[in-house]
Amino acid sequence: MVEATGIRPALRFHALTPLYDRVVALTTREGTFKRALLEQAAIEPEQQVLDVGCGTGTLAIAAQRLQPGVQVSALDADPAILAIAAGKARRAGADIAFALGRSSSLPYADERFDRVLSSLFFHHLSWGDKLLTAREMHRVLRPSGELHVADWGRAGGLASRTAFLAVQLLDGFDTTSDNVAGLLPMLFGSAGFRQVEETRRIRTVFGIVSLYRAVKSGGEARQHSAGGTA
Ligand SMILES: C[S@@+](CC[C@H](N)C(=O)[O-])C[C@H]1O[C@@H](n2cnc3c(N)ncnc32)[C@H](O)[C@@H]1O
Repeated sequence: MVEATGIRPALRFHALTPLYDRVVALTTREGTFKRALLEQAAIEPEQQVLDVGCGTGTLAIAAQRLQPGVQVSALDADPAILAIAAGKARRAGADIAFALGRSSSLPYADERFDRVLSSLFFHHLSWGDKLLTAREMHRVLRPSGELHVADWGRAGGLASRTAFLAVQLLDGFDTTSDNVAGLLPMLFGSAGFRQVEETRRIRTVFGIVSLYRAVKSGGEARQHSAGGTA
């Protein structure tokens, strides 16, 4: 397991981590975009799912509730937030394999997972770490396995661009600029993914949360349907 040093915590400062769930629920239409992400992931019973940068575990717990037979693993580099996640999972009766680790060096075997998920995570990483992380996600997915990501997306105009300045002031301009410039699809393509798409754009008070889907080549891919802006 890798030491959790030098990462950007969920709300920038460790002291704010206990407030994370309340802040995200109030400001990001969390229920809407996490439900939409799980819907597009179409997880099937017995599949192996990994949530990278799982934070307080909300998405991982929801994935298991939706499909009780599924094996959910969830990784984060911050031990304090993982402790919150483990407590939430215990209270929810969810059996999730939490791991402390860095997304740039995932502690999982090649081709282990059917789905890799991540939400509000890539904007915490430098471009170099984004690329290493996307390559690691590609490595741990089986052929035809799918990546499903929700994160701040390309600004939809002056209003959403201006609103996003609040996120940039909190989380830093260095890691968030790639998101708002709309570079995540290109990133996933560079890491080897195919059929990379922005599937939905969801307006929030802080700008657009985009949903993305990308597929690892090989195996038998499933059919997908298109989305829009909500
Ligand atoms: C904004 S939170 C998102 C949490 C959760 N996915 C959600 O949707 O609410 C970003 C998370 O990424 C984690 N993180 C930041 N850098 C990381 C890295 N290099 N590897 C793994 N986790 C990291 C932080 O500890 C934090 O929990």
